[in-house]
Amino acid sequence: MRKRIVAGNWKMNKTYEEALTLVSEIDNMVQNEVTGDVTVVIAPPFPYLQSVGKLTQGNDKLHLAAQNVSEHESGAFTGEVSARMLQSVGAEYVIIGHSERRMYHHEDAQTLYKKLKASLAQGLTPIFCCGEPLEERDADRHFEYVGQQLHDSLSYLSNEEFDRVLIAYEPIWAIGTGRTASSQQAQEMHAYIREQLSRLFDAEAAYNTSILYGGSCNPGNAKELFAQKDVDGGLIGGASLKSRDFTDIIKSF
Ligand code: PGA
Repeated sequence: MRKRIVAGNWKMNKTYEEALTLVSEIDNMVQNEVTGDVTVVIAPPFPYLQSVGKLTQGNDKLHLAAQNVSEHESGAFTGEVSARMLQSVGAEYVIIGHSERRMYHHEDAQTLYKKLKASLAQGLTPIFCCGEPLEERDADRHFEYVGQQLHDSLSYLSNEEFDRVLIAYEPIWAIGTGRTASSQQAQEMHAYIREQLSRLFDAEAAYNTSILYGGSCNPGNAKELFAQKDVDGGLIGGASLKSRDFTDIIKSF
């Protein structure tokens, strides 16, 4: 079943104390103000996962995500964190293939595929990110570019595995830039993604997949974006660091 989801990606922000304050505020606001059927996911930095998870345990709308995961199961991989570790501290979701990981950490399609497999094997729900850089958009190659990203990392998954994957479309030119995709640009790409997924898997799986939009989503533009037929929620960066803004985005459904 396609779900409405708003996920907050905190990236490398906040001290431990600040993180606890932020999550307590979000927890309160979501409990008191959010009435609709929406799943809220919070992705704090690794060291805060367990504490943030404990604070949100009593709120069944709130769920915990990691921002990254190792493609390896365990062993001598200094600095890495495995899917099993994430699962053991209460994470339910994991962001895979964010453009910052692809760009700064050189994560290629095959690595992302392995991360998907490792996460699925531990029962985590991957949020698989895709999205084109500005030059591809300007050259009118954005559909092909995103189609290729989906094909190169997802096509080796079985239908059963894919059923548990969420997609986030994040055009790189819209991330942290204040320049959001128009609701029409988002809808067009989301519909294209769904069509590609129906080719890679089947129409039912594609129909049921939640596809989130990410990139300068804020309380001012979320309503229009979420009103699009194929936009099932958002992956929120900057605005998820402010409890008021994040909650207002969640309430935009
Ligand atoms: P932004 O980031 O909302 O700050 O643009 C989105 C993301 O990178 O997930």
